[in-house]
Order: sequence, then structure tokens, then C-alpha cells
Amino acid sequence: MKALITAGGKGTRLRPLTHTQNKHLLPIANKPILHYALEKMVDAGIKEVGIITNQEGDEVKEALGNGEQWGLSIAYIPQEAPLGLAHVVKISQDFIGDDSFIFYLGDNMVVGGLKKFIKAFEEQGSNCHLTLSKVKDPERFGVPELRDNRIISIEEKPSRPKSKFAVTGIYLYDSTIFEAVNNIQPSARGELEISDAHQYLLDHGYSISYSEITGWWKDTGKPEDVLEANRLILEHTAARQNGDIDDKSYVTGNVVVDDGAKIINSVIRGPVIIGKNTIIENSFIGPFTSIGDDCIVRNSEVEFSLVLNSVEILDVGVRIEGSLLGTSARIVSSSGRPQSNRFMVGDQSLIEIA
Ligand code: G1P
Repeated sequence: MKALITAGGKGTRLRPLTHTQNKHLLPIANKPILHYALEKMVDAGIKEVGIITNQEGDEVKEALGNGEQWGLSIAYIPQEAPLGLAHVVKISQDFIGDDSFIFYLGDNMVVGGLKKFIKAFEEQGSNCHLTLSKVKDPERFGVPELRDNRIISIEEKPSRPKSKFAVTGIYLYDSTIFEAVNNIQPSARGELEISDAHQYLLDHGYSISYSEITGWWKDTGKPEDVLEANRLILEHTAARQNGDIDDKSYVTGNVVVDDGAKIINSVIRGPVIIGKNTIIENSFIGPFTSIGDDCIVRNSEVEFSLVLNSVEILDVGVRIEGSLLGTSARIVSSSGRPQSNRFMVGDQSLIEIA
């Protein structure tokens, strides 16, 4: 079995962070989202992975290389334009050949391994195995219609969903999917929809089985999803304290303090990760916060936030909460007159002031 992982897309809902970084490389608990996907492939015993990039795919290539680090062989497949997920499958036909494969949307995060889905797919001997998750807003997703525990139809982003399930971004296929993606037509939004390929399979007598994901699943398209994924991963991260924590500091709960980090006269209430060479001084870091490498937090409070590398937070009087701070962002107290707020803010940034 091979794997295909998507790593393209524009990440529009995560701007400005995605102006300078592919959203699949955003760190969750200080590790790029795509690393979690690759670790899942390793755990499932997969060796060959195709990664679909957009035209600016070099960043992803540089970050993952040839996959050696994970014992994987990675091939890169560029998609010339965002023409849909079924188009992604279509352009990967040469890479997949006659194998069966797992198709994994690189921005999806799920708790637990993939082996159980592969096992269910193989045992049921179907042409396609989908993973479903109950959601509050099925109209945002591919939605199956179920009867007697069978999928009888699938619609993409229906205005009137026929079930409460989303088809998640973890799909298993045999090579009949290529017949489907080569025969469907673009949708109204001009894309070859993966849901249309699934409907093609159903219409042509091929079988689709499914598993329900009862635990946690998210596609990390929006800031609140990224914070939520960060919360969840931190909850499952084992404490590890390699940096220096002075006698005046209190560190409680699951806390990772990486090499070279210094905690001085501060309170860290886990789950929290503090990256390499970061300095936390006279500060409070509250639950579900990831602070990247080479940051400085001084005389400030940060909680339920994701802070990327080389950020400075200095003398900020109000607790920073529910925030995403991009690489090298600086939040500092202003001095001198007039006493005012001063901004130097990139395109499509959001600032909420207490
Ligand atoms: C895509 C698929 C949709 C699926 C979703 C899962 O939607 O088209 O069927 O339910 O991924 O994340 P998109 O993220 O492109 O809106």
C-alpha cells in the first residue's frame, strides 16, 4: 500500500501566517503539521509516499527532503493549479500504479493510527473505504447518505445534508478510483470533486465501505482549529524538561522545556511546550500554549496560544489568549509620549484590543 498526501492549497483562512509559510508546515506543539501525517504513515507500515505540492512546493521539499528521516521514500507530485482533490488523485496515477493506497489530506489531524482503517478496508474487500466523523456543520464537507449501514450517495457541501457525517480527509482506494477521476466533470466551482468520484463509484456498482472516527478529527483550515489541534496534541505530549528552570519558578502539569530554554521567576501551567533557547522571565504561561524556539517572553502572560519561532513578548500588561503569533512577531509595551497603541501589521492581520 502506498500513500498520497496533499500539501498544496492557499491557506487563505490562516492569513497572514500563510503569506510566508505553507499551512501544512505550521507547527502544532512545535512540530510541522505534515510531520504528524508522515508519522502516521510510518506507524501504518507504509514505505512509499507521494506528496502533492502546489507550484511553490520547494518549501515543502526542503522541509521533508527524500523522507529518509522517517525511513520513507517521498516523491513530489506538483499540481499546476488547484483543480480539486479528484484531480490530485488523477495526476498521481503513474506514481500509484496498480497498488491500493491511502489518500490523506495533509491538513487533517486525527487521534490514533490508521491501521484500523486499512484493516477494515482489506477485510471488507471494498473498492473504497471512507472515514466518517459526526460534525455540527456537515454542509462544509462531503456528506454521505446512509441506509442500513451502507453509503448510498455522497454530496459535496450540500445545502441540505442527508446525514450528520462529514467524509474526513482519510480515504482508502484500490485502482478503480482512477476510472472515476478520469470520467467525472468539473463542478460549478471548477474543480474535480472527490465526492463526485465517490458518487461515480456508487453509480457504477463499485463498493464503498466506511469506518466512523469516534475520537477527535479536525481539518486545520481555520485559526480556531489550529488552536484546538494544538490543545489536543499538547494533552498527549509527555513532559520533558531539558532546559533550565530556576528555583523561583513553578512548573506544573505536562510541560516540555526544550534544550537551552530558560525559565526564570515564572509560572508555567501545563500542558505547555517551550522551544529551544527560549527565555521566559517574570511571566505566566498558561495551559495549551506552544512557544517556539528562540523566543523571549518577559513580564507578560500567555495562555491557549500558538507562538512561532523568534517571537518577542515584552512587558505586555494584558494576558495574551487564544492567539496565533507568526515567526519573529514582536508585541512590546510602548514607552514615551503620546501614550498610544502603535502597530506595524502585515496584510490580513487581526488585532483585538482589550
Ligand atoms: C475537502 C473535500 C470534502 C471533505 C473535506 C475533509 O473539502 O472536498 O469532501 O469532507 O475535504 O476535510 P475542502 O477542504 O476542500 O473544503
